[in-house]
Amino acid sequence: MSDQKTVLILGGSSDIGYATALRYAEGGWRVWLAARDLASAQRNADDVTARSGQPVTVHALDVLQSEKFVDFVAQMPALPDTVISVIGELGDQKRAETDSSYAAMIMRTNFEAPSQLLDIFAGRFQARGTGTIVGVSSVAGDRGRGSNYFYGAAKAGFSQYLSGLRNRMSLAGKVRVVTVKPGFVRTRMTAHLKLPASLTVTPDRVASDIYGAAEENGREVIYVAKRFWLVMTIICLLPEPLFKRLKL
Ligand SMILES: NC(=O)c1ccc[n+]([C@@H]2O[C@H](COP(=O)([O-])OP(=O)(O)OC[C@H]3O[C@@H](n4cnc5c(N)ncnc54)[C@H](OP(=O)(O)O)[C@@H]3O)[C@@H](O)[C@H]2O)c1
Repeated sequence: MSDQKTVLILGGSSDIGYATALRYAEGGWRVWLAARDLASAQRNADDVTARSGQPVTVHALDVLQSEKFVDFVAQMPALPDTVISVIGELGDQKRAETDSSYAAMIMRTNFEAPSQLLDIFAGRFQARGTGTIVGVSSVAGDRGRGSNYFYGAAKAGFSQYLSGLRNRMSLAGKVRVVTVKPGFVRTRMTAHLKLPASLTVTPDRVASDIYGAAEENGREVIYVAKRFWLVMTIICLLPEPLFKRLKL
């Protein structure tokens, strides 16, 4: 292999995954996309290659099939320099309230499954002494809300997983762990929602912040957009009786 660095993006069919792939490719990185929807991921790969000139390959991954994780990592052409999970499932909160297997799918997709897979990469990065792990979580994990608490609880778990992993990896040479908390992003996931324009960002903006934190400025926990840090700090400070009345 050449000196060119490699990024593996888990969730390569997503809008944020596509934008992140393009940002890395424009930075001269080799890009591998892992996805359940291979046709969408291949379209993203072809588009990134056409725009950047960098080769992009696509690899099959259903994150709910955890029994295949060890083989998935082993069949990669090499251990990547950076692995980024953008996998997520907003789900339908109302359906989850009456369908426990659907609720379990939301929680596994956002928390358990990506954590298990990233942990395998963490072990390999620790043995090598270098590597960067990025998890795209959400501000929804900062405080549970009635309108999306299965998703929010899972993202809270994922943020805490990344925090603990960062703590563990701080003793492991140059292995870095970055937590990314987007607020509102205009993507396929939120296409059916009315989003406040002043608090909503594009996938390109998320990608640029991911690249900045992971490869340039060394930040470990980032809010996209930054003003969401203040919004969530205030929301987290609200006393429970007042928070309940807001019906968020
Ligand atoms: N959009 C927002 O406002 C927002 C805000 C905060 C955080 N986020 C987070 O940002 C990340 C990217 O989301 P997005 O907005 O770009 O939406 P998206 O396009 O819907 O991306 C979700 C991705 O997760 C993948 N995925 C779901 N279940 C999977 C499974 N079992 N195996 C493999 N892949 C699976 C989807 O693959 P398929 O194409 O196969 O479904 C898709 O690639 C998610 O983690 C999301 O929670 C988004």
